[in-house]
Formats: sequence, C-alpha cells, structure tokens
Amino acid sequence: MEIPRHVAIILDGNGRWARSKGMPRNYGHVRGAANVETICRAADDLGIKYLTVYLFSTENWRRSQDEIKALMKLFHSYTRTCIRQARENNMKCRVIGDPSALDEELQASLRELVESSKNNTGLNFQLALNYGSRDEIVRAVRKVAQDYKDGKIEKPEDITEDYFASRLDTGDIPDPDLLIRTSGEERLSNYLMWQLAYSELYFTPVPWPAFTKKDLIDAIEEYNRRNRRFGGLNAGEEDTPKQGS
Ligand code: IPE
Ligand code: IPE
Ligand code: MG
Repeated sequence: MEIPRHVAIILDGNGRWARSKGMPRNYGHVRGAANVETICRAADDLGIKYLTVYLFSTENWRRSQDEIKALMKLFHSYTRTCIRQARENNMKCRVIGDPSALDEELQASLRELVESSKNNTGLNFQLALNYGSRDEIVRAVRKVAQDYKDGKIEKPEDITEDYFASRLDTGDIPDPDLLIRTSGEERLSNYLMWQLAYSELYFTPVPWPAFTKKDLIDAIEEYNRRNRRFGGLNAGEEDTPKQGS
C-alpha cells in the first residue's frame, strides 16, 4: 500500500455526534480534540509525513459566543497537550491561518508549540486555526506587494506559481495528496483551496469523534485505488499510432 505523503483532514461532525448521544455540542468538541491526538499518532505509525487538520475556520466566528469561548479554551488545553506530544514523538508543529484574532494566551502557547518543536524531524503536523483559504490568499497577495516594495521582486513575471505558493501559510510544505472530510458533508468549506488542486478527495459519513485508525486506513486504501493523472495520461492510455503514420 502506498502511503500518501501529506494527508489533510476536515474534521467535521463533533456537534452532531454529541447531539446523537444526547450530549451538548461541546462534549463533541472535547472528544474531537482527544481524537486529533489519537489520529496524529496513527498517522505517524502509518508513515504519513505531513498531517494538516482544520480546527477552526475564519467562518466559525459565526457560531455562538458560548461555543467559540468553549472552543478557544479547548484549543488552549489541546495546545498544551500537543507541546508534550511533539516532544515525545519528535513531531514538528506549524500553525496555518491568522492567529492574530485568537486570544493572547492561546497565541503564546501556539508560539511555544511551534518554537519548541521546530527542530523535530518526525511527523509534520499543521494546525489550521482561524484558517480560511481566501483569507490566506489575500494575506499572500499582501506579502507579494510588500516583497515588491522591498525590492525582492522587480517585475510581474517574477510572480510564478512556485513563488506565490511560497508566500502562502503552507509555503514550505508539499501539497496534500489526500483530503479526508468526516461526517458526510461534501464541500471544502474554504480549506486549502490552492493546495488541494490535485488532491484525491475522500468523504466518509463517520463523524470525527468516532473516526478511528481503521477509518484512516480505509481512506488510504481508497486512495490507492485512485488513478492520479495530474492532467496527463498513464502508460498504455495513449492511442497507439496507426501503422504507417
Ligand atoms: C467540527 O465539528 C469542529 C469545528 C468546526 C470547530 P462541528 O462543530 O462542525 O460539528 P457539526 O458539523 O455541527 O456536527
Ligand atoms: C469546517 O467545518 C471547518 C472546520 C472543520 C474547522 P464546518 O462545520 O464549519 O463547515 P460547514 O459550515 O458545514 O461548511
Ligand atoms: Mg460542521
């Protein structure tokens, strides 16, 4: 089985999962956060090199103040856990998205997480927090404009796909090979829209808190059945030239 180098996950369904058990939505978030830790270990065990999880979108601010407050508290305690996990498992953590809107204490913990794990050589783990693709692209365009002002680029032609990609939050990591979304929704919800251009998309009805290592393996098996062509053709798919032409 070929293991995708980079797996991106939209972890969805925490609220519905909790409600189906007669519990408040926040219980789903608590169990969901614990499952991020579990799936992180599973990804590492399977030999995945990059794992990027969507924890909070730029649109999630539309939720109730109570839910947002509970989520921020949870992200804070999850970040503390993650600092420990990164140390134990040699994991290198990055944050994508715009942390400036998060509360100061959470920002400080996130900085500590990134700083303390930056020389680790194991799983590359990206936390997407206050992340939105459109916001990321707009921020990247601003960086390009600043690069121009600073004389780092001189003319429009200097803006190539590779250069532009390097100004995204994911600048130094490869594009995802596989995107997984849990809980039955089949949309991107503003996640990694540039980076997912050629990724395989996998949707499962399993809600995130119930998603197991076995479900991750199922997704990878399905990935192995896909035929990735990147716009080209595989050997043997071309028309055979007619005799004499
Ligand atoms: C995903 O679960 C976690 C976040 C978006 C923060 P949801 O909270 O979206 O759960 P559902 O989709 O309402 O069930
Ligand atoms: C996407 O889930 C965002 C995260 C998983 C953090 P949502 O639950 O917010 O997405 P929609 O609203 O169903 O599109
Ligand atoms: Mg949802």
